[in-house]
Amino acid sequence: MESKFKEVSLCVFDAYGTLFDVHSAVGQHAHALGDQAQTISMLWRQKQLEYTWLRSLMGRYVDFEQVTQEALHYALQTYSVNDAALEQKLLLAYNQLISYTEVKDTLKQLRGAGIATAILSNGSPNMLHAAVEYAGLTDLIDQVISVDELGIYKPDPRVYQLALDGFGVTKNEVLFHSSNAWDVAGAVNFGFNVAWINRFSQPSEPLSKAPDLMLNDLHQVLGTLEILPI
Ligand code: 2OP
Repeated sequence: MESKFKEVSLCVFDAYGTLFDVHSAVGQHAHALGDQAQTISMLWRQKQLEYTWLRSLMGRYVDFEQVTQEALHYALQTYSVNDAALEQKLLLAYNQLISYTEVKDTLKQLRGAGIATAILSNGSPNMLHAAVEYAGLTDLIDQVISVDELGIYKPDPRVYQLALDGFGVTKNEVLFHSSNAWDVAGAVNFGFNVAWINRFSQPSEPLSKAPDLMLNDLHQVLGTLEILPI
């Protein structure tokens, strides 16, 4: 094993975009949105993230459920979709996101190798537990950690500290995984070992030094940690 990762005993995962496909919410109702479905989904996600950053800067925290609802409302309004029932369905679909195909097996293999697993996410505890349960991951995640207990969003360094506090480990024992480049930058800035799961071959953001690993999917982490298939 690369010496840098010898001490890793905890794998921490971002939730939305990393474990769960955020666009699968709109995917469930794409027929109702027609040609605008994909654009609306992209704007929903973009606004959701913007609102977390803006609210953190303003010191005006509301939970991710509200941020997600307000971002959806904005996205629908932008495209003149005025349908309260559909809006409600889209919001509920966020609790039933599809997880990426390799997620379950990767978590199983990590746990089999004695490595602890955690989610560290902007999501509110209710949203995260619903998504974890829907994806059948409940028994494969040791801790689901939400920013909600702090009342500030990623990439504030205090958020990443929550994972250390939750497990009583030091930074060198953690490998943090995210598909979101801005979250990768936040975790590198905090001092974690970081794997960027760059699912869509996006360019890097000029916000931090490069992450330790750049992988296409989570399964590739197993090779890096020299975990043999079970
Ligand atoms: C998260 O799960 C929003 O993807 C981000 O924290």
